[in-house]
Amino acid sequence: MIELAVALSDRTYPVLVGSGARHRLLEVLPVGARRAAIVTQSSIGWTVDPGVPSQVFPIGDGEETKHLGTVEDLCRDLAQWGLTRADVIVAVGGGVVTDVAGFVAAVYHRGVPVVHVPTTLLGQVDAAIGGKTGVNLPEGKNLVGAYWQPSAVLCDTETLGTLPPREHRSGRGEMAKYAFLGVDDLPDLPLDEAVAACVRCKADIVASDEREGGRRAILNYGHTLAHAIETEGDYGLRHGEAVAVGLIYAAEVAHRLGRIDAERVAEHRSVVAGYDLPMNLPPDLEPGRLVDLFARDKKAIAGVTFVLDGPRGVEPVAVPDRSLLLGAMEAIRRA
Ligand code: GLY
Repeated sequence: MIELAVALSDRTYPVLVGSGARHRLLEVLPVGARRAAIVTQSSIGWTVDPGVPSQVFPIGDGEETKHLGTVEDLCRDLAQWGLTRADVIVAVGGGVVTDVAGFVAAVYHRGVPVVHVPTTLLGQVDAAIGGKTGVNLPEGKNLVGAYWQPSAVLCDTETLGTLPPREHRSGRGEMAKYAFLGVDDLPDLPLDEAVAACVRCKADIVASDEREGGRRAILNYGHTLAHAIETEGDYGLRHGEAVAVGLIYAAEVAHRLGRIDAERVAEHRSVVAGYDLPMNLPPDLEPGRLVDLFARDKKAIAGVTFVLDGPRGVEPVAVPDRSLLLGAMEAIRRA
């Protein structure tokens, strides 16, 4: 078992990565936890044994479950069960489950402890780590949320063996992102070590900038376009696949701004292709509408802000030039 930590002084928490990590739940529960509310989806098909009295609270499947109505329903169910701050929420599932359960933990009784047991590759390398929680609005993804750090995260790589291929592919989109954030040789590592390398990278970034005052924004590399695509509708791309297209787009934008050369753009294409991920925009998407949506991204304080590669590495950059953004869109339409 690989044991890591997200170092946040008195809120530091462990992240266990390896086969069977889910069986370590009792030892990472907050000291004295009386009962556990297990938030999960029936489609996951297995649950965890917290070693204290517990009840399962299922939520629906899919991104469409990630809305405020689900938060209200879950809070009401927990209130009827009598959940208190002396209890713990255990989130067992992918990003939808950990985002919703984490947000409920942040707001129910103004905060109860939560342990995440991410069951997808995407959840293990990204969503369950770092305390971002929240739900979508019709106007955009993750527009309502809170920073609420878990007490522990158990990344059980055994659970990845039964993931549907598309789900695994989606996780590889987030993994590809880490290749540009300084994690080397990811494709050559055994799965446990690859997951741990991503977690270590994210933990380091979160420890240095928990609330995204600056550096943490680099974790959104590839996400500005991905979120715009996802806001436009269902174009058949899973989140990590949309991130993969977003990585290529970000490279094309950085190249047009003179921040990286053609060779570095080619490197982006080769990493993304190596993970067997898409590199082009779905054909029916209207580039102008996507560019309009960039201004609604949470990184955009005034105008459009992109996370871009460059001489100092990946960093947030204001990009006011609409025609440049549209030009870069052409490169991912015809490529
Ligand atoms: N998924 C990006 C972050 O946690 O900051």
